[in-house]
Amino acid sequence: MATMRVGLVGCGNIASDICLAIRNGNMPAEVVALADIDASHAELLRREYQLNAFIGTLDELADAVDYIVECAVATVVPAVVAAAVKHHVDCLVMSVGGLLERPELFDLARDNSVNLWVPSGAICGIDGIRAAMQAGLDEVTLTTSKPPKGLKDAPYLIEQGIDLDGLTEPRVVFEGTAREAVRAFPANVNVAASLSLAGLGPDRTRVRIVADPSATVNTHEIRAKGPFGELTAILRNRPSPRNPKSSYMASLSACVEVASAARLFAARTG
Ligand SMILES: NC(=O)c1ccc[n+]([C@@H]2O[C@H](COP(=O)([O-])OP(=O)(O)OC[C@H]3O[C@@H](n4cnc5c(N)ncnc54)[C@H](O)[C@@H]3O)[C@@H](O)[C@H]2O)c1
Repeated sequence: MATMRVGLVGCGNIASDICLAIRNGNMPAEVVALADIDASHAELLRREYQLNAFIGTLDELADAVDYIVECAVATVVPAVVAAAVKHHVDCLVMSVGGLLERPELFDLARDNSVNLWVPSGAICGIDGIRAAMQAGLDEVTLTTSKPPKGLKDAPYLIEQGIDLDGLTEPRVVFEGTAREAVRAFPANVNVAASLSLAGLGPDRTRVRIVADPSATVNTHEIRAKGPFGELTAILRNRPSPRNPKSSYMASLSACVEVASAARLFAARTG
């Protein structure tokens, strides 16, 4: 069975979970190239998982692999897509917020027969939203509830002078479009972006952010209505075992995408 050569752009928490899944799982994939703005992160990953991988530039990485995983930062997404297109390699984009303001990247990939994959990330129900969108959607709302300390440094709260100290009951601190939400609450960016891309887009997807003093985990609830009926999907995210600031589900969604791509690659190449 052919083994899919994987290149990881960004060697942090999600990259680490992918390496673990490839090592433990039954998937025909191998990490052969690493790129990171901080080479010490790539070195650490290579050592920790004893990878037979080189550390190089984006261009060198794209030239050497069958599949790229971007798991770095939103600002690097355009350069990763350009490298994927140049070397004709499919790409999984974890920093989905990087695609929200750059819809032309999808056109660029499509025109060059490169697949850009967007994971479900730290929410669930995206499959239903995508399917429902075939008949159009009337409304889609994301409600994110977090413990107040998880919202503490959000630019919107600072700008509006909203103080969450001493909160005793849930408080809606923001309501607006997904486009407004990703600017106001950058930590929520990927979830709002994934939902927007699957459904009504950033200007018609509504987002509500709730500070809940009784919450112990981050909860994302999607509600949608359309000709298909009604959908409610709720995910209560536990933190990743290796990084308390990141949702475990985000890493798991990356791992399942890599596994699917590897099986597809093996089936295609024999
Ligand atoms: N889709 C989702 O639901 C979802 C959920 C969680 C995280 N994410 C996104 O996935 C990405 C990775 O998350 P993580 O938890 O692994 O982050 P992390 O901070 O643990 O790791 C990121 C790594 O990328 C490197 N990096 C930063 N800028 C870079 C650049 N310009 N070029 C190359 N490498 C660079 C960092 O040095 C670091 O090693 C982030 O953008 C995060 O927002 C998406």
